[in-house]
Amino acid sequence: GTSIILGAPIQIGASQPGCIMGPQSLRTAGFVQALTELGWKVTDQGDLSIPPRAPIAHPNKAIHDLAEASAWVELLTERAYAAARDSDLPIFMGGDHLMSAGTIPGVSRRAAELGRPLFVLWLDAHPDLHTLDTTASGNLHGTPMAYACGLADFAPYPPNAHPIDPRNVCMMGIRSVDTAEAARIKETGIEVNDMRAIDETGVMAPLKAFLARVRAAEGILHVSFDVDFLDPSFAPAVGTTVPGGATFREAHLIMETLGDSGLVASLDLVELNPFLDEKGRTAKVLRDFTASLFGRRVLDRMTRSF
Ligand code: ARG
Ligand code: MN
Ligand code: MN
Ligand code: MN
Repeated sequence: GTSIILGAPIQIGASQPGCIMGPQSLRTAGFVQALTELGWKVTDQGDLSIPPRAPIAHPNKAIHDLAEASAWVELLTERAYAAARDSDLPIFMGGDHLMSAGTIPGVSRRAAELGRPLFVLWLDAHPDLHTLDTTASGNLHGTPMAYACGLADFAPYPPNAHPIDPRNVCMMGIRSVDTAEAARIKETGIEVNDMRAIDETGVMAPLKAFLARVRAAEGILHVSFDVDFLDPSFAPAVGTTVPGGATFREAHLIMETLGDSGLVASLDLVELNPFLDEKGRTAKVLRDFTASLFGRRVLDRMTRSF
């Protein structure tokens, strides 16, 4: 298959700097080579950038860098659409999770063009369901899912022309939810598998059920992978660590199962902050999990499909 890689060095959505180095850290870890060795034809389109902008004020005084955020959303929506149109499985390398406010509408536009519903698997400690009115931190990486689902007016962002159906979203790994987000989860009926659910059932039961739904609907699947989904003990390079995350083995099983399914059409890798790391440890973890999704296997086993 073919994969376009796009770097989105965004850090203005986060509370502390460092995610700007995410794409370069992944490249330094041999990210492209790992996929090429698996037989993929990879085109690295390099890093995107936005021109400087005049600040935009918002009634919610906590919000910062709104003009830049809006520019990133506009640019990424266009470029993610084109990458999904022009390759089998594009990878969007962040950058903080604000990135997904552009990539999801972009791939959603492509899905609409193909006449297929878009599904999103959201692997994260957080639901990122704030609107511009409810974010208390003002960190816009806490808002992309609300924008992607079209749950509120996000002006000055461009209006989301291809909002996704919240019923087509499956979240896993959730363990930090703010009050306004909890209310939104209730209203929308978004499927949230928190860490308690994963402890009770394991990752395979909810994952298999979700993949079966995607397949039955002839859907297209986008995976949004936030580093803080993982337990900080082995993936420490993220500004918003929350204890009790997915284990290496759980994440590895998820990525191999996603690869086996053949349903994944695009991937976000977000929140990697190499400044918080030691010897590129977390970048290497992301490289290897991505390779698992792209077909790397420990043994040659019979292909199972879910
Ligand atoms: N809910 C918190 C906030 O809005 C944390 C968001 C963390 N998001 C992330 N993509 N790491 O500030
Ligand atoms: Mn996130
Ligand atoms: Mn359209
Ligand atoms: Mn998170």
